[in-house]
Amino acid sequence: MVMRILVTGKNGQLGKSIRKLVNAEAKKENNPSSNKFIFVGREELDLNNESNINHYFDSNDKFDIIINCAAYTQVDKAEQEAELANQINHLAVKQLASKVNRQQGRLIHISTDYVFDGESNKPYVETDIPNPINAYGRTKLAGEKALQEVMPMNAFIIRTSWLYSEFSNNFVKTIIKLGKERDELNIVADQIGSPTYATDLAAVILSIIKSEVFSSDSQSTEIYHYSNDGEISWYKFAEKAIELADIQCSVNPITTDAYPTLAQRPKNTVMQNDKIARIFGLKIVDWNTSLGLFFEKVCREY
Ligand SMILES: NC(=O)c1ccc[n+]([C@@H]2O[C@H](COP(=O)([O-])OP(=O)(O)OC[C@H]3O[C@@H](n4cnc5c(N)ncnc54)[C@H](OP(=O)(O)O)[C@@H]3O)[C@@H](O)[C@H]2O)c1
Repeated sequence: MVMRILVTGKNGQLGKSIRKLVNAEAKKENNPSSNKFIFVGREELDLNNESNINHYFDSNDKFDIIINCAAYTQVDKAEQEAELANQINHLAVKQLASKVNRQQGRLIHISTDYVFDGESNKPYVETDIPNPINAYGRTKLAGEKALQEVMPMNAFIIRTSWLYSEFSNNFVKTIIKLGKERDELNIVADQIGSPTYATDLAAVILSIIKSEVFSSDSQSTEIYHYSNDGEISWYKFAEKAIELADIQCSVNPITTDAYPTLAQRPKNTVMQNDKIARIFGLKIVDWNTSLGLFFEKVCREY
């Protein structure tokens, strides 16, 4: 059966990474019609208000799957634009869930490690109680909760962390750019997490869609954690990126206190990936290997 799969956030890191893999798969299989992916950005489906969402679904055929990659992701700005962030990260998620529910489809929604307060001294599991410490995290958590309420079945919430890619703005690209411009960089060393190469997450999403678990009837809605394996500080991550990019720039560790930001950041949001690996039979690549592949494949152009 050819499934109609709607992907929101087509111009974002994850949306573009999914599109790249879908195009590559279609070429490889020489079978571009195995599933029909429809990629939309705010031009086609602006999640800013409910009437846009209603209009989009009223004027399009039913979708079998929605992959919601769209989000308000500016963590600091969200402190000042909490209402807008809430619309995209919470209310729009609720509206998408009610659309897909009515169409008896499935929803894959992406959430964040920032739903946690970062005070744990062991990796977070899916059943740990979230306690966001900034507006972005609060709106993302509200989105998860609304989705679970509207759609107790057939939705998959994937919490990821520290996403980077060749697309859009992200930490790795910023570090490379600044590393080329400056002799030294001061990077926060007391925030720990797990980087995630968006291509790896995109591949995971595509393999989930093909899995038996995904297509079996009446799945209860579940949360899964997914990041690359291993943990690291922003400082160590920057240091490794500068080394792999072969840039002459020293990287100095600083504390969070020395780098004040509008939004508070959680100290340690390493998540345990065991559940997603077990249920979908995934082999999870460590962050170091993925960062190396990222540089090998795409970073020479920067
Ligand atoms: N980036 C991270 O480090 C990180 C960490 C943990 C979790 N996540 C989650 O992972 C998912 C993917 O993140 P990402 O890094 O790919 O995000 P991203 O690069 O910021 O892309 C998000 C996309 O959402 C779109 N969007 C924003 N407002 C919209 C609106 N009103 N209507 C329609 N589209 C709108 C943006 O469109 P425009 O391009 O037009 O602005 C953008 O293309 C998100 O759910 C995010 O919360 C990200």
